[in-house]
Formats: sequence, C-alpha cells, structure tokens
Amino acid sequence: MRALITGAGGLIGYETSRFLLQGNNEVIGIDNNMRAYFFGKKGDVTGNIQDLTSDYDKFRHYPMDITDRKAMLNLFKHQGPFDLIVHAAAQPSHDWAAKEPFTDFDVNATGTLNMLEAFRQHSPKGTFIFTSTNKVYGDNPNRVNLVELDKRYEYAEIQHMKGVSQEGINEEMSTDHCMHSIFGASKLSADALVQEYGKYFNLNTGVFRGGCLTGPQHSAVELHGYLAYLVKCAKEGTPYTIFGYKGKQVRDQIHSYDVAQAFWHFYLNPKKGEAYNLGGTKQNSISVLETIDLLEKDFGLKLKHTHSEKNRIGDHICYYTDMTKFKKDYPDWKIHATVEDIIEQILSWKST
Ligand SMILES: NC(=O)c1ccc[n+]([C@@H]2O[C@H](COP(=O)([O-])OP(=O)(O)OC[C@H]3O[C@@H](n4cnc5c(N)ncnc54)[C@H](O)[C@@H]3O)[C@@H](O)[C@H]2O)c1
Repeated sequence: MRALITGAGGLIGYETSRFLLQGNNEVIGIDNNMRAYFFGKKGDVTGNIQDLTSDYDKFRHYPMDITDRKAMLNLFKHQGPFDLIVHAAAQPSHDWAAKEPFTDFDVNATGTLNMLEAFRQHSPKGTFIFTSTNKVYGDNPNRVNLVELDKRYEYAEIQHMKGVSQEGINEEMSTDHCMHSIFGASKLSADALVQEYGKYFNLNTGVFRGGCLTGPQHSAVELHGYLAYLVKCAKEGTPYTIFGYKGKQVRDQIHSYDVAQAFWHFYLNPKKGEAYNLGGTKQNSISVLETIDLLEKDFGLKLKHTHSEKNRIGDHICYYTDMTKFKKDYPDWKIHATVEDIIEQILSWKST
C-alpha cells in the first residue's frame, strides 16, 4: 500500500513511517523541519529524516509545508492516490501557541483543512488519520472530583460530571465551557473538520485525541515532550522545574509504537468520522513525583529539580485515558510498552 505521512520527522510521523516501511509499504513523508523553528536546535528533526531515507528504499521525503495549499493539492494529484494518510504534522505545544497564534492556527487548523480537501479530491477511497489532542477538552478534566494521595492525584469514586470514571477520561467529556489554550482551540477546529469529512462527505476518517505520546526518538524540549525531556534532564544533570500541583500531576504515557499499531488497526477497519481518546491508560499513568522516584530506584538517576508554585495555564492536574471505546471497536489492539520500557528506551537512544 501507499501511505502519506505528514510530520514524518516528528515523534509520531517517524514511528508510523518506520512501522509501515518495515511492512514493505511505500511511504511518502512530508516534513519541513518546522519543529526547529518552534523550539530551536534541540527540536531539529533532520536526523530522523536522514535515518528513514538511508534505511528504506521505499521512503521518499519532501520538505514541503502543509500550509501551502496549492502544493498539497498538487502532491495528492501527482503522487496519489494514497491508501492511508496519517496527518501528524503540527505545532504541538500548548505554551508556544500563545506566542504566534496566526502560525499555530495556520499549521494546526488550516494545514489540516488543506490535507483533508486534497484527500477528498484525490484519494477519497483512502483512510485519513488525524492526531488530535486531549486539550480539545480544555481544562474540563480539572473539574472532576479528585483524591489527593501522598505522591499523586487520583479520580474519586463518585463523580458529578460525564466523561470520567476510575478508568480515566472518555470521549463523553465536554469540549465546551472551558479554557482550551490557543493550541487546544486550533486543534479542536481541526478535530471537528476531520469528523465532518467523515460524517458529511462519507469518507474514512479517524480522530485520535492523544495524551502523552512518547518514545525514544522524541526531540524533546521543555515546552513539548514531557517524559523524554525529564529523563534527558536526569541523565544530563540539567535542572528541572516542576510547574505547580506539588508535582502530583498525573499523565499516562503511551509509546509511539503502540500509537502506530492503533493507527494500523483503524486502517484495516476504518470508520467514518469517529473520535477516540488515545493514551497509555491507567496502567501507564504516573505522576511527576513518582517518575522522579522511579528514575532513582530503577535507573540510579537523581533528578535535580525545583518546584514552582505556578502551574502552566490550563494544565491538567490528573489526566489518564479511558480507551474503552477504541478497545471495543478494535479488540486486538493492546499496549505493549510499560513506563519502565519507555524510560529504558529513551535512555539508550543515541541522541539522549
Ligand atoms: N507528543 C505528544 O505528547 C502529543 C500529545 C497529543 C497530541 N499530539 C499530536 O500528535 C501529532 C504529532 O506530535 P509529535 O509529538 O510527533 O510532534 P512533533 O513536533 O515531534 O512532530 C511534528 C512534525 O511536524 C513537522 N511540521 C510542523 N509544521 C509543519 C508544516 N507546516 N509543514 C510540514 N511539516 C511540519 C515538524 O517539523 C515535526 O517534525 C501532533 O498533531 C500533536 O499535536 C502529540
């Protein structure tokens, strides 16, 4: 089959490309290394693109910009049709978006529309997968009932709102009446568009609302790639600042390989405009304080850290993903990597 992957040098685009190429499929990857513009030299993804180009004959890279509408239409027209499109190019940071709202919206929202319309015109029999975010729920997950434990927060047994249980946050969580951040708003626009191309135009489209997606090849920086960045700081002795919530904030971690697998299952049995939460679930949920303890106990690494009382604006206090809906539709999909596996791989990655 023939796939188009946007953001092929990024964490998810790279892993998905590699997964498809290992299955002997043809992959066209688009990435203009805009991550280096967003985050500086440490965000550079050139090495990932070079790896794919040198390792696989069936990989072709185009350093194109997804905001260039004409170029995207031409790409689909001349290189398509594509069986699968995984749209993972994005401005991915919550905090960065407020610096340049135009750029953030152009890339995340308009860029997605460009891809969708090119898909509708030139690959309508294919499947379109979009990497959305749990920030579409804004700070609503902070309104759920929590219990404060010694090292973390947890969801309380009794809840007063829809979208949460002790299994985590599900797709019933409201996307309204909350603060999303500029990033959350641009992604929510794209998320709704992808659903509409499925429902309104009757095309195969899937929305995956990611939590903390991670893996060794993440070009992690302070503003994006929390776990990989924290592990990198512990290894290099770089001071790390915990922003707010006493370090008890909880996230679930999912390895990018398990993400690529979820996309594959969706491709094999696609739906029209369905939205799924995607994350490491309760089994891979861990707080910042618990991560620091784990690094010390299992990996002998002591993180130099300080606490800032101020949390990041709109940052979730406790978020882990309930994937019941996806598992019901795709019962053969399973999480393979534990948090320990992920940390081990981050530590042994060449550039960490
Ligand atoms: N990593 C996470 O924790 C996480 C969580 C939730 C959602 N997501 C979403 O998953 C997707 C992939 O995230 P990631 O972690 O792989 O991000 P990433 O920054 O590692 O990868 C995105 C890639 O897109 C490229 N890109 C950006 N703008 C571009 C443009 N205009 N044209 C072409 N290429 C461009 C970048 O250079 C980068 O390599 C994003 O949509 C992100 O919002 C990620």
